Amino acid sequence: MTAVGIDAIEIRAGKTRLDLPGTFAERKGEDPEKYTKGLGLHASSFPDVYEDIVTMAANASKRLMDRKGLQPDDIGRIDVATESAFDNSKPVSTYVAGCLEQVYDGDFNHANKGERKFACIAGTQSLNDAYNWISAGRNRGRAALVIATDTALYERNEPGEATQGAGAVAMLVDEDPSLVELSAQQGFGSADETDFLKPNQQFPSVDGKRSMQVYLARMREAMEDFASAEGDVNPEHFAYIPFHTPFPGMVRKAALLGYRNGIRDTDIEDALAEEIGHQPRREAFDDDESYREALSEYADALAKTDRYGEWYDAVIEPTLDISRHVGNWYTGSVHIARVSALKRAADEGRDLVGERLLVGSYGSGAQAEIHAETVCEGWLEEIEALNIDEQLDARYELSFEEYEMTHDAHNHDDEGEYDELTVPSDEFAFDGWGRMGERKYRYVS
Ligand code: COA
Repeated sequence: MTAVGIDAIEIRAGKTRLDLPGTFAERKGEDPEKYTKGLGLHASSFPDVYEDIVTMAANASKRLMDRKGLQPDDIGRIDVATESAFDNSKPVSTYVAGCLEQVYDGDFNHANKGERKFACIAGTQSLNDAYNWISAGRNRGRAALVIATDTALYERNEPGEATQGAGAVAMLVDEDPSLVELSAQQGFGSADETDFLKPNQQFPSVDGKRSMQVYLARMREAMEDFASAEGDVNPEHFAYIPFHTPFPGMVRKAALLGYRNGIRDTDIEDALAEEIGHQPRREAFDDDESYREALSEYADALAKTDRYGEWYDAVIEPTLDISRHVGNWYTGSVHIARVSALKRAADEGRDLVGERLLVGSYGSGAQAEIHAETVCEGWLEEIEALNIDEQLDARYELSFEEYEMTHDAHNHDDEGEYDELTVPSDEFAFDGWGRMGERKYRYVS
């Protein structure tokens, strides 16, 4: 079977930055360590007034197409995953194609375009759609452009306000990929949940603490499903395990669950037993509650072992490098976690070719998905071509008042006029409204 996977990735961060332990915590009267130690966040990225999900998506896509020497007719499919769409009918991918057609000679006339929605997991679902389209041989030699783009904004003064962010990840999915090959097998954990939703409203209704429990429950089910299909979920067999990262503190919990689950009935569980005993088994308990308590005690003890600590530092911590400085990008979050890990490997001069990643995606509502990826020959060149560090360093530092203005400027119900904080250059920018209420864009040289 032909290898199918991600050939190239580009990331576009919102151009402004909010210092969370500094500017934000100070104004909220909170301890900065809630951010640095608890949530694991230093900053959020926000879109300037002329940026939105379309400009970030189009800017990431243009850089990707230029770098790979692509023209529009090399692309047979454009899928955009977002939970920040502003139109219930016309998909964001048509706006992105319209932007790109301003700067390329050809057009995307014969490309299939769509928009995927399932909270934060939609980016991975779009990746799967592209994988299936290519694997089925329906692509006629063309690649798929898969874009995850979001402005993750919460209502002001709600707990979620601490975990906002904005950015886009564009991925080229193709045969014989340079970056990672996707596994054919997947595992799912899916249930009708109301942890986070936006019933025809821009800002989410969130039950924050419950959403964390639902994330973990669905992730556990997805791991079990993947193990039943693939067999091997031993956490020590993977170079990195990127998880959906609404904030790094969430991944701390997901990683512990994944490790505990993955070492069950393995030599690792036996080796750790001398120090912390074996994992509790349901049949040894009279009821679910006492079993859950015992599991939680085991997990606390596991987290304190050297073996777990070393594994976490090597396999999980590197996936959080970018997230700590940009916040939640919803659909893009798990994809920046993958890039983050590969970037760390590149910085450390590590040879990753042939090594495997286990990727854990999640979307509220709720569904988790697990699949594996194998790192390909061209990974280093792809990762070294990224300019995400330069983008993050160049961000405009927001004062608290500017943050509030930015939030208002992106509130769909706010019709105020707001001044730009930065000057657009060599990028797509929002250019006002058209006669049908559509958003218009122009390329600023
Ligand atoms: N020093 C160190 N840690 C601190 C701290 C301090 N001074 N103050 C708080 N913390 C820790 C808390 O113990 C907690 O960690 P824990 O969960 O491991 O116990 C963490 O920082 C967050 O603090 P908390 O008081 O729980 O924050 P909150 O009430 O503002 O809510 C969320 C946090 C995540 C629930 C909230 O931001 C939210 O609703 N986010 C959106 C939904 C979301 O992202 N869900 C995730 C699944 S998709």
